[in-house]
Amino acid sequence: MNKKIKKILNKKNKSKIVCLTAYSKNIAEILDKYCDLVLVGDSLGSVLYNYKSTKEVTLEIMINHSKSVRLGVEKSLMVFDMPYNTYKNPKEALKNAKLVMKETKCDAVKVEGGKKIIPIIKILVKNKIPVLGHVGILPQTDRKFTFKGKKEKERKKILNDTKLLEKAGVFSIVLECIETKLSQKITKQLKIPTIGIGSSVNCDGQVLVTDDLIGLSQSKFKFVKKYINITKIIEGAVKRYKLEVQKKEFPKAKHSFRN
Ligand code: KIV
Repeated sequence: MNKKIKKILNKKNKSKIVCLTAYSKNIAEILDKYCDLVLVGDSLGSVLYNYKSTKEVTLEIMINHSKSVRLGVEKSLMVFDMPYNTYKNPKEALKNAKLVMKETKCDAVKVEGGKKIIPIIKILVKNKIPVLGHVGILPQTDRKFTFKGKKEKERKKILNDTKLLEKAGVFSIVLECIETKLSQKITKQLKIPTIGIGSSVNCDGQVLVTDDLIGLSQSKFKFVKKYINITKIIEGAVKRYKLEVQKKEFPKAKHSFRN
């Protein structure tokens, strides 16, 4: 088994798993120092491209961003988010995941869904492609983005899905916007770690979209904590630059070349 995956599995019930998204090298390099897992998420569709849904994200876009992220990630586990329509059936999923692994040199792929995608997970795992599962809100296919686990029927289905995913061989599961007690129950009942986003502190780890956490995106999700407003800091620098260019204070002699 991949050493980085082993390290993540070993964290269960010992220490929390720290995960964030990256879409390019420079951010990835920073995250790599602090994260156990760096996800090239298809959230880049809305964050970078203003797509209405992640359905529009293509394999080509994801591969290009992942190649850049790969340049910044050394120590963490790098996970590639398989875009919508690229894992419709086991044959296509395997073909695309093999291409992704070859082109991006990522360590694992993530797929969204429960019982329905078990044959897909099984074929990937059988072919030694490590898989991260994803249940709860499924941005690729859900119409409504409200938290999951309000009704008993839904709670049972989600719990059952996570058990099926574990049995099919995923190394971990992202729980997106799952009600607090349910995420606790899932985390307790599974041997593999859970990684929460909007699913409470009960999960074995946490993931967020980095652009949300640093205040580079304008998102206002309840589950996001903005640790800094990087937009303001960048704006401050750009404003000063503008002023200095206009006042001919930049560039100075030390920024210029002379014979
Ligand atoms: O696409 C993404 O960034 C994700 C995470 C936020 C879990 O799926």
